Amino acid sequence: MLKILEWDSAFFGTTVGSLEWPYAPNSLEIEKFINNHHPSLIQSLCPVNDVNYIHYLEVIGFRLADVKITFKTDLKGTYMKSEYVRKAKIKDFTSLHSMMDNLFEDSRYYGYEEVFKHSQANELYRTWIERSIKGQLDSYCLVYELANRIAGFITVKENGREKASIGLIGTHPAFRKMGIATTLLNDAMQRLQEKEVHLLNVSTQGKNNIAQNLYIANGFQMESISLWYYLVNNSEILK
Ligand SMILES: CC(C)(COP(=O)(O)OP(=O)(O)OC[C@H]1O[C@@H](n2cnc3c(N)ncnc32)[C@H](O)[C@@H]1OP(=O)(O)O)[C@@H](O)C(=O)NCCC(=O)NCCS
Repeated sequence: MLKILEWDSAFFGTTVGSLEWPYAPNSLEIEKFINNHHPSLIQSLCPVNDVNYIHYLEVIGFRLADVKITFKTDLKGTYMKSEYVRKAKIKDFTSLHSMMDNLFEDSRYYGYEEVFKHSQANELYRTWIERSIKGQLDSYCLVYELANRIAGFITVKENGREKASIGLIGTHPAFRKMGIATTLLNDAMQRLQEKEVHLLNVSTQGKNNIAQNLYIANGFQMESISLWYYLVNNSEILK
């Protein structure tokens, strides 16, 4: 399917299209879509092993934008809850709001200033956190509180009875490498294990080796690799 992403377009104030793998329209159809909708960007996510589709995207002008690595765990380990971790309340948003500045700079929303403004990318993650505290996007947000300061957070989405995914995890730069993300992960995994959830997923960027190390160190295994491709508005085809 080739479609407009309504939420993303409204959020970024520019038209964002999506070409959904494995749909492979010919260049005529893509041109028609572009002429009708004038997107600033069309994105496509495809599995790394579909080389034919990758070549198809490259031939029609898409460029590699990001590598998405998904990890999984069956939650069969032994996890520990922490006295420093609790569910976030809406009053915590003020602390989280400032922590969100450039925290996820490795993500695919940064580096495409002509489409996703840096400030808008920051705002996207703030919105994500705020809506997750309210249970409107991810199911909840946990925070690590140290001496009345929020040092880190994690958002978790429970998908049905047996599956869950981690949306965002972050530690304030002043508290890195102290085991805070590990503690947040453990607390979240213990909560999920109690609920008999059997599958937990998390995705990160190919260039985010710190996050990859964090997940591997906590018993996750790699599940899949996909590639984000962008056709951006300065490409010949969108002019
Ligand atoms: C990724 C992040 C959450 C890790 O937070 P943290 O509290 O510093 O992590 P921990 O102290 O619990 O470290 C756990 C493991 O992560 C890995 N890790 C942490 N910092 C690392 C670094 N600088 N280099 C390499 N690996 C690192 C290690 O495997 C570490 O285990 P070890 O200490 O036994 O070696 C933090 O760096 C962060 O907020 N980054 C920006 C946001 C982000 O990228 N989030 C993930 C998006 S999916």
